[in-house]
Amino acid sequence: MNRPAMEGVRLNVPSSVRHAQLIEWVAEMAALTEAADVYWCDGSSAEYDRLCAQLVAAGTFRKLNPELRPNSYLACSSPSDVARVEDRTFICSEKKEDAGPTNNWMAPGEMRELLQTGPNALFRGAMKGRTMYVVPFSMGPLGSPIAHIGVELSDSAYVAVNMKLMTRMGAKVLDVLGTDGHFVPCMHTVGAPLAAGQKDVAWPCNTTKYIVHYPETQEIWSYGSGYGGNALLGKKCFALRIASTMGREQGWLAEHMLILGVTSPSGKKHHVAAAFPSACGKTNFAMLIPPAQLGDWKVTTIGDDIAWIKPAADGKLYAINPEAGYFGVAPGTNDKTNFNCMASLKRDVIFTNVALTDDGDVWWEGMTDTPPAHLTDWQGKDWTPAIAKETGAKAAHPNARFTVPATNNPALDPEWDNPAGVPIDAFIFGGRRSTTVPLVTEARNWVEGVYMAATMGSETTAAAAGAQGVVRRDPFAMLPFMGYNMSDYFQHWLDLGRKLEASGAQLPRIYCVNWFRKGADGKFVWPGYGENMRVLQWMIGRADGTAQGEETAFGVTPRYGDLDWTGLDFTPTQFDQVTHLDNAAWKTELGLHAELFQQLAYHLPTELIAAKAALERRLAA
Ligand code: GTP
Ligand code: SPV
Ligand code: MN
Repeated sequence: MNRPAMEGVRLNVPSSVRHAQLIEWVAEMAALTEAADVYWCDGSSAEYDRLCAQLVAAGTFRKLNPELRPNSYLACSSPSDVARVEDRTFICSEKKEDAGPTNNWMAPGEMRELLQTGPNALFRGAMKGRTMYVVPFSMGPLGSPIAHIGVELSDSAYVAVNMKLMTRMGAKVLDVLGTDGHFVPCMHTVGAPLAAGQKDVAWPCNTTKYIVHYPETQEIWSYGSGYGGNALLGKKCFALRIASTMGREQGWLAEHMLILGVTSPSGKKHHVAAAFPSACGKTNFAMLIPPAQLGDWKVTTIGDDIAWIKPAADGKLYAINPEAGYFGVAPGTNDKTNFNCMASLKRDVIFTNVALTDDGDVWWEGMTDTPPAHLTDWQGKDWTPAIAKETGAKAAHPNARFTVPATNNPALDPEWDNPAGVPIDAFIFGGRRSTTVPLVTEARNWVEGVYMAATMGSETTAAAAGAQGVVRRDPFAMLPFMGYNMSDYFQHWLDLGRKLEASGAQLPRIYCVNWFRKGADGKFVWPGYGENMRVLQWMIGRADGTAQGEETAFGVTPRYGDLDWTGLDFTPTQFDQVTHLDNAAWKTELGLHAELFQQLAYHLPTELIAAKAALERRLAA
């Protein structure tokens, strides 16, 4: 079928596509954006290779030395397009209250006029001179009852190839869609139309950016950025912002969580889901290698960034990873901090904004103790250790990332794409806090755990544009990813807990952790990474009734002797540095909880207000 769109562009619909509504939408979007061509991705590796070669020819990709890094590429973005743009991200629900005070909001009609319907609408003619890629993808195993399908239309081949690694993408998805299957339309343009004969740039984008969600009609419209969560719309836009609103209606959870399996020396397996804000350690924790001295513990990865969690008939919560790849932070990753990740990155990788070595491989800050003598930095400039010392120039951007298929991970859990998911035994919430928050605390009950998660603070990172290292409240590590009103989301968690408890089920335990306390020298006191296994081991012990702790005002924490220190030289004094509770600091902290609760007053669950009052009473005592 080769129906011409309004402007005459051929739609090139493959004969296997029988979904009238999809074809209609593609036709409409091709007409709106005046795309020069339409290409339907089949998801094959031949197509992947072809698009990558095309990106190399366009200067967007550089093929890395195939002997050092087979089947891998480096892309360097425009310096104005290096991270998520939270201040340009909108939740356009009919009512402002439904987006809530933590989201940017605009009325859907007004936003549509700006993007789509107005005389100068941004999407009008936005793809002139470019190909519109039709990217059908499944979040979750193909055809599984828990999976959801999206179709992204994008004028970026970089997006198409990244989506191939990050999702189950291609013709098979269209087969599952059939004639009338449901899909979430995800519209994306870099916002850089080309006039006839105009030469393209390596990383087209626009200084104007809009990352827009219409939760009620389940649509995503993204304009002006080609980077990460702004452009790979299956990830934060769909699997968190839109999915959180689906979960609210349907009684499940879409969370910014890694999922791991942990098998004890006796062979017993537990599953843990952990929410840490962006660039706060999810990928690392999900791929953790336990210290050998602790015995034969094993950690396996189910997911590293997003969890969809549903209650099952047995009263347990089951989690799946809706993604099929990792879009992870490169800086800080090395053989010591994350061996499994380094092994995953040996081949088949798209690197974005890391540095290029003279022999055609990649490097980033923290990869090796001694940097190479010369590099081409992520902006294409000469970089040497001497230049770095003088100017502070980073070889890799602090938010430089890799895209790699999950199947490259040697620690991949055999259940990672089981459509039924894995049963969750514990939830962990953790921020990046150089002070105040102790290493680990166990909530005494579900409400106390929800309170911990709701009031969590974290220092901002390079994953989002804007100031870094500023402590802000990041409830459930979901602040940038909530598709509806935050207080209603707290209520959703409380309701789910109550429902499961009523069914007689054993609720997962909830923990609050902090790997990031710093000493007077400004260095992290806790060794972190693989050593986080000691904390995980304690949590598993708690669930099994073997590990001890003591009650504090906040919950239950291990004493020095309650953790296994075999093979690690970590003194009681150091332990005190990462666990002691400073009363003055906690007074200030509770002031910040109060501020958050003031901001979220509309629909704030009364149980959380009561939990706060109880905490204040205990602290005062
Ligand atoms: P997103 O992909 O943005 O959601 O990030 P993430 O939560 O997966 O974070 P990731 O594991 O990529 O870690 C981000 C940064 O934190 C990296 O530079 C890591 O080296 C560092 N990091 C991770 N775990 C630890 C830890 O236990 N201790 C310390 N000090 N740093 C850590
Ligand atoms: C995050 O920022 O939490 C990420 C990277 O996982 S991005 O996909 O850009 O959102
Ligand atoms: Mn993330």
